[in-house]
Amino acid sequence: MQQHGREIGEVLDELDRARSGEPDPHGGHLFGLTYPSGRDDLEELAMQVYRRTLFSNALNPFRYPEQARLMEQVVTWTGELVGLPEGGGGSTTSGGTESILMAVLVHRERARERGIERPTLVAPVTAHPAYAKGAHYFGLELLQVPVDPVTLRADLTAANVLVDDRTALVVASAYSYPHGVLDDVSALAALAQDRGAGAHVDACVGGMVLPFAARAGVRSLALWTFDVPGVTSMSVDLHKYGYVPKGVSVVLHRDADWAQRQWFVYDRWPGGLYGAPGVAGARTAAPVLAAWALMSYLGFEGYQELVAELLATTDRFREAVESVGGLAVNGDPVGTILSWRSTDPALDVYALGDAMVERGWYVNRLTDYGGCPPSLHVMVSPAHARVLDEIAAALQESAAQVRGAAAPTDRSARYS
Ligand SMILES: Cc1ncc(COP(=O)(O)O)c(C=O)c1O
Repeated sequence: MQQHGREIGEVLDELDRARSGEPDPHGGHLFGLTYPSGRDDLEELAMQVYRRTLFSNALNPFRYPEQARLMEQVVTWTGELVGLPEGGGGSTTSGGTESILMAVLVHRERARERGIERPTLVAPVTAHPAYAKGAHYFGLELLQVPVDPVTLRADLTAANVLVDDRTALVVASAYSYPHGVLDDVSALAALAQDRGAGAHVDACVGGMVLPFAARAGVRSLALWTFDVPGVTSMSVDLHKYGYVPKGVSVVLHRDADWAQRQWFVYDRWPGGLYGAPGVAGARTAAPVLAAWALMSYLGFEGYQELVAELLATTDRFREAVESVGGLAVNGDPVGTILSWRSTDPALDVYALGDAMVERGWYVNRLTDYGGCPPSLHVMVSPAHARVLDEIAAALQESAAQVRGAAAPTDRSARYS
């Protein structure tokens, strides 16, 4: 740190300069990481909450019982969306990864109670790295389920072989990060239940999309919520398609008893009773209260409208991809994520992606891991509606530019 402080303007100028070369989350040029709603009123409301709660601490319900009550409402409302039964429970966390970590921890504890010393976690190869992280942190063995090469959903025959008496947890994505497809939640949960294991539904992305899509009648979906017997926990991120700034997700458990096990409670020190439902100790309440505010403001109907528009944009995006000869959308994506591969040997899909990136459209690569096709990947946000014609044109131009050209030698991909 420098010895003398600087003027506020100077400090902010430097921050602005640092950010100026990086993609603007509002511009619609990013296809992951950020989820701009494209709505000034929603951003203004979140900002107002942040101004009021800048120095909040979500750790302490003893000192801030009213804020804790509002935070609890966020959990209740999210539970209602995904059919959490009476008696279920959960908590807010800092994000999808922490929600998943807590679900893995709870299932490991349950497995230990059943006398399982070396528990396994069975997850599709398409499951988010947070499951591998959870397995690593909490000492479970990760067993990866291959996906069907056409549907890109977890292969049930393979899952059946992997799920056994050591299984603590089976994972199903609703929907998956790479391809946006809905795993067969009923079948995977039934496999888990047969062996006394739990089943976690990863609705980090889909949880704030699918309930509204189904009610709006814009998607007809197989069962994926707590209505499926055997589903024991679920993660739903509000900092994705809930349009809250980063820092809030909800983890839910079918039984209160399970939800309780998420808590770490301790009083063997001089500082008094300490309790936390997640990895973090002190953490800001701002995103959770912003979630409360946005959910209050939009209501079910407001989100439903946003989702209906967003899925219409996603459908248009899909048409734009499919109108380029030699590209095919992978599987049957049910929500806001699309991926596509090349079916034309003269059109390398990564070359197409690089050409898009050169034009300032930051599409992401998916690798051929686990037999998945090398592909390009987008998470669609409302902000893309405005620029969809430009994206469609860029896809056509990029394909024309690279068709017949050499494939890039660098075949690596980065999650971004
Ligand atoms: C399906 C899925 N699960 C979990 C996560 C992890 O969420 P986070 O990045 O909030 O930790 C993501 C992130 O994109 C995801 O797509």
